[in-house]
Amino acid sequence: MYSKIAGTGSYLPEKILTNRDLEGFMETSDAWIRERTGIERRHVAAEGQGTVDLAEPAARRAIEAAGLAPRDIDLIVFATCTPDYVFPNAGTLLQQRLGCPGGAAFSVEAACSGFIYALSIADKFVRAGEAKHALVVGAEVLSRVTDWSDRGTAILFADGAGAVVLNASAQPGVLSTHLHADGSHRELLFCPGGPGARSGLPAAPAPGFIHMEGREVFKIAVMELGRVVDEALAANRLDRSALDWLVPHQANLRIIQGAARKLDLPMERVIVTVQDHGNTSAASVPLALDAGVRDGRIKRGELLLLEAFGAGFTWGAALVRY
Ligand code: COA
Repeated sequence: MYSKIAGTGSYLPEKILTNRDLEGFMETSDAWIRERTGIERRHVAAEGQGTVDLAEPAARRAIEAAGLAPRDIDLIVFATCTPDYVFPNAGTLLQQRLGCPGGAAFSVEAACSGFIYALSIADKFVRAGEAKHALVVGAEVLSRVTDWSDRGTAILFADGAGAVVLNASAQPGVLSTHLHADGSHRELLFCPGGPGARSGLPAAPAPGFIHMEGREVFKIAVMELGRVVDEALAANRLDRSALDWLVPHQANLRIIQGAARKLDLPMERVIVTVQDHGNTSAASVPLALDAGVRDGRIKRGELLLLEAFGAGFTWGAALVRY
C-alpha cells in the first residue's frame, strides 16, 4: 500500500506587497532584495483573515482536483507555526469548515519544514491502512509575527496556503520521506512568546516576532539540504539523473540554486515561486507543487524531490512519484 498525490491546491491572499512598497517604509531596495533573495513581491493576509481562512480554499481546490468531496476526507494533518488558536488545533478548525467530521485532525509545528513533516505523517497513516483520503495542508500568516521594522526578516516572510490530498493506492506515490532536526540551533531562528513561556526563555527581540541570524541559517540550510537529498536518493537506489523535478522550500533563490547545482539539475527542472510569494514557511512547498501541477509542467508519472529547512532546526525531503 502506498499513498499517492491525488490533487493539489493553493491560495494566496489578495493583498500584494512589492519590494518597492517595502522601500516606502524601511531602508532597503528592490535591487538588494532581488539580488540576495530572488523575492519580488509577497502576499499579505487582510485584517481579520487568519490561517484557516487561507487554508480552506487551498484545501477545497485540492479535494476538487482529487475528484473527491470534503466528506471523503478521513484524516487532516495541518502544518503551521502561526495557528489561529492555541487550541483547538488548526486541523479541527479546518475540518469544521469543510464539514467532514469523524476522522483524526491535528496540527504539526515544524516551522518551514512543517509540510514535509505533515506529508510524512499522513503517508504513514495511509500506508498503515488507517486513512484512505488524507488532506495535508501547510498554511501561514507570517506577516503577524514579522517585525516590520527589521529589514533582515521583513523582506522574506509572507502569507499563503497549499494543500494536497493523498489517496491510498496500490501504485507507488510517496516513495520515502526523510525527517531530521537539531534543536541546538534554537537561537539562530526563533519566534518567542508562546503561551507556555517562562522567564528565562529568550525574549529578544520582542515576544511574538521572528528573530533570525540570516547568514548562519543560510550556511546550515545549504549543508543539511545537500545531505538530505543525497539520503533520499540513496534510500531509493536512485541516481540524481532520475529526477524530473525539484520542488524546494521557497526561502531564498540562492539556497534553491545551491540545491539544484548539487543535484546537477538545470533551473528549468526546478519549481521556483519565491519571486511571487516570498517565504511562506509550511505553505511554500505545496504552493510551489500546485503551481507546477496547474501550469502543466509536472506530469503524472514524473519523479519529484520535495525538500525543506526551517527553524528548530528541522529539515526533510520526500521522493514522490507523481
Ligand atoms: N536591505 C538592504 N540592506 C540590508 C537588508 C535589506 N533588507 N538586510 C540587511 N542588509 C544589510 C545589512 O545590514 C548588512 O549591512 P552591513 O554590511 O553594512 O552591516 C549587509 O546588508 C549584509 O547583511 P547580511 O545579513 O550579511 O546579508 P546576507 O547576504 O546574509 O543576506 C539574508 C541576508 C537574510 C537575505 C540571507 O542571509 C538569507 O537569505 N539567509 C537565509 C534566511 C532564510 O532563508 N531563512 C529562512 C529559513 S527557513
